[in-house]
Amino acid sequence: MVVSPHNKSKVKAAWGKVGSSAGDYGAEALERMFRSFPTTKTYFPRFDLSHGSAQVKGHSKKVGDTLTNAVAHMDNLPGALSALSDLHAYKLCVDPVNFKLLSHCLLVTLASHHPSDFNPATHASLDKFFASVSTVLTSQYR
Ligand code: HEM
Repeated sequence: MVVSPHNKSKVKAAWGKVGSSAGDYGAEALERMFRSFPTTKTYFPRFDLSHGSAQVKGHSKKVGDTLTNAVAHMDNLPGALSALSDLHAYKLCVDPVNFKLLSHCLLVTLASHHPSDFNPATHASLDKFFASVSTVLTSQYR
């Protein structure tokens, strides 16, 4: 899968509209993931996963900031995400299948907040971007 220059410009434009809402959207995406795919909750046994939880909000801010940083470094995602890649593989042992679930929930969240911007080209570009981030974060498993 190749994230083309065209895809990258669509992702940059879409993420530009997200702006300072990255953390809030991250929280919504996580809540959607926990509700729609309850097995994902098993990775967060010590978290309060109720709606509006301060722990989920704090975690989402980190996830949102990471995605904002990844958008800024789309030409070198392995470099930008290397520490997180080690963490998810060796320490957290998150099964790679879960990255598809979170990516899906991120797409749904973006589509619901920016319906008029979420055309097929932007949808496809964001999908490829999240798949690339997921590939890097699960690359240490091989
Ligand atoms: C787009 C994909 C993802 C990104 C960008 C991401 C990002 C992050 C970040 C930034 C942290 C905090 C690291 C730190 O505190 O140093 C983290 C921790 C964590 N992530 Fe991910 N993550 C992703 C996917 C997932 C998935 C799919 C799961 C499991 C369903 C998961 C489970 C966890 C857990 C359990 C922690 C530790 C939370 C804690 O105890 O504080 N992550 N992730």
